[in-house]
Amino acid sequence: MKTVVFSGIQPSAQVPHLGNYLGALRQWVDLQNKNQCYYCVVDLHAITVPQPKQALTEATYASYALLLSIGIDTKLSKLFVQSQVPEHTELAWLLNCYTSVGQLSRMTQYKEKSEKQKNFISAGLYDYPVLMAADILLYDTDQVPVGEDQIQHIELARDIAERFNHQYGPVFKLPKGLLLKETARIMSLQQPDQKMSKSDPNQNATIFLLDSPDIVAKKIGSAVTDSQTEIRFDQSRPGLYNLLSIYRALKPQPLAEIEKHFEGRGYKELKKELAELIVDLLKPIQKRYQTFVNDKAELKKLMKAQAEQIRPVVGKKVSEVKEKIGLVI
Ligand code: TYM
Repeated sequence: MKTVVFSGIQPSAQVPHLGNYLGALRQWVDLQNKNQCYYCVVDLHAITVPQPKQALTEATYASYALLLSIGIDTKLSKLFVQSQVPEHTELAWLLNCYTSVGQLSRMTQYKEKSEKQKNFISAGLYDYPVLMAADILLYDTDQVPVGEDQIQHIELARDIAERFNHQYGPVFKLPKGLLLKETARIMSLQQPDQKMSKSDPNQNATIFLLDSPDIVAKKIGSAVTDSQTEIRFDQSRPGLYNLLSIYRALKPQPLAEIEKHFEGRGYKELKKELAELIVDLLKPIQKRYQTFVNDKAELKKLMKAQAEQIRPVVGKKVSEVKEKIGLVI
């Protein structure tokens, strides 16, 4: 039996960024060969905060096309859109009844996101982690490749699974988060004490996977560092540390070698080389993206076909859960 891998990404107004890629998405690609992988564009998670209709549709196509462009291969993995597999929401409702309000109130992401929603906080935003638990538990998932910010949600999924199993016997597998230690939390280029984020109002803080070479150079060039000069991996210098971590992720080598390479050289040179590495990463992705995104009919066909292939698998799981609870199936 192959290890089962599940992960998801939200289609929000902006396309995925370098943090998404280095923290999570590049693991998705690497995991495809040896495991049974399910990757999901989680549109139902995106609507927990307001989304303009057209932007949501576009972002769903764009995210799906980008995942294909970075190398997700639908011959090896399942790549689908969450709302096209309604078993996710069905299981989420069932799991809601095995999740306490206290548990949900402790979720850091809810606290942060609800603070930003001044006028209206949806019940969906509060319940977001239960839908995420359903995503994961539906597939008997072993591993969930994510960035650090999602670990608390995966722990909640385990807690929900344990509570259910305790009451009804072993129905759910207990999933584990899979982190890339060095890049599990890529930081904002402008405020390196905060994570890089799609919704950062300062556009210079985040490199998006569709940014042009000029924009990449401009954003890296204006990245916040410090007034020191020596280029070293030093966590007390978060701006520099973040840039060096990105550099090392794109050009893997021992820390000491990178420090030696930049000995006697300044931030300007580091930034120039780093921008070049990022452009080299993005160029082929962007080229493939243009071919995928321009054929929406083909994308839609692929999405539907992938969802249809999954439904029998997850249908069985939902029936098992309902039967355990005592619902008449
Ligand atoms: P989302 O869409 O916010 O982010 C997608 C993935 O990118 C990771 N990530 C980062 N990694 C490193 N540095 C950063 N600055 C950074 N920002 C984001 C995230 O950790 C994530 O892995 N709730 C999830 C989507 C989801 C999901 C799931 C994930 C829904 N259901 C089931 C795993 C399993 C989210 O909002 O990710």
